Amino acid sequence: MNIILFGAPGSGKGTQAVVLNERLGLKHISLGDILRKEVKDNSPVGLKVKSYMERGELVPDDLVAAVIANHLSTEGFILDGYPRNVAQAEKLEAVLRNLNLAIDSFVYMEVAKDTVIDRLTKRIVCKTCGSVYHLRNMPPRQEGVCDSCGGELIQRKDDTPEVISNRWEVFLRESAKLIDFYDKQGKLFRVDANKDKDAVFEKIKLKLNE
Ligand code: AP5
Repeated sequence: MNIILFGAPGSGKGTQAVVLNERLGLKHISLGDILRKEVKDNSPVGLKVKSYMERGELVPDDLVAAVIANHLSTEGFILDGYPRNVAQAEKLEAVLRNLNLAIDSFVYMEVAKDTVIDRLTKRIVCKTCGSVYHLRNMPPRQEGVCDSCGGELIQRKDDTPEVISNRWEVFLRESAKLIDFYDKQGKLFRVDANKDKDAVFEKIKLKLNE
């Protein structure tokens, strides 16, 4: 099974991808995580994408297409954060066709702007392993310390009010046509992502079973 998790920043794509990975054994491919690692490593790709990410803009399509192609799996995957526009979706289709693969489901996690702001301004992530927490909804056992690896918990650089607002605008600009693209293929599933983590997972599971 090959799934795309799509939704606004803070809709919970990464959170649900972790659960789906644990339950279904599908490879979790987070483009945001991959790009952040490139930036952290000061790699040639990282140097090119850094300023786009800091502003909350999309990185150019050709650049991210090359990056994602290196991470696809023939064993089943969850794509988190890719594609984000029709041009990326078309490039992805071409790559998958060559591998004799296809997308089975495009899960659109619908969320309100107020929810996004609350989730992202209170999100903390592990500097070492990338585990994600929320100060109120999903706090770590010990303040400031990652449950998984003991690493330091920090705020993401793009989780400032200004950058969150820009990411939301970018999402609104790009999303409608992409949703339509997968709707026409009969692969679109809408899920109310304002609910709590378990309720959202149950909804996704139900849709995938259908
Ligand atoms: P990326 O890292 O993908 O960021 P994003 O899309 O803005 O999404 P987030 O990671 O912020 O949110 P999420 O939906 O995963 O939510 P999460 O599970 O963490 O991309 C970053 C940047 O990389 C982009 O701005 C762009 O520059 C570049 N980029 C990436 N992909 C690209 C592409 N395809 N093309 C070009 N450029 C690209 O949850 C958020 C918070 O809410 C957490 O604190 C969590 O604990 C909490 N939470 C989650 N679910 C729930 C729930 N159900 N109830 C309560 N709290 C919840």
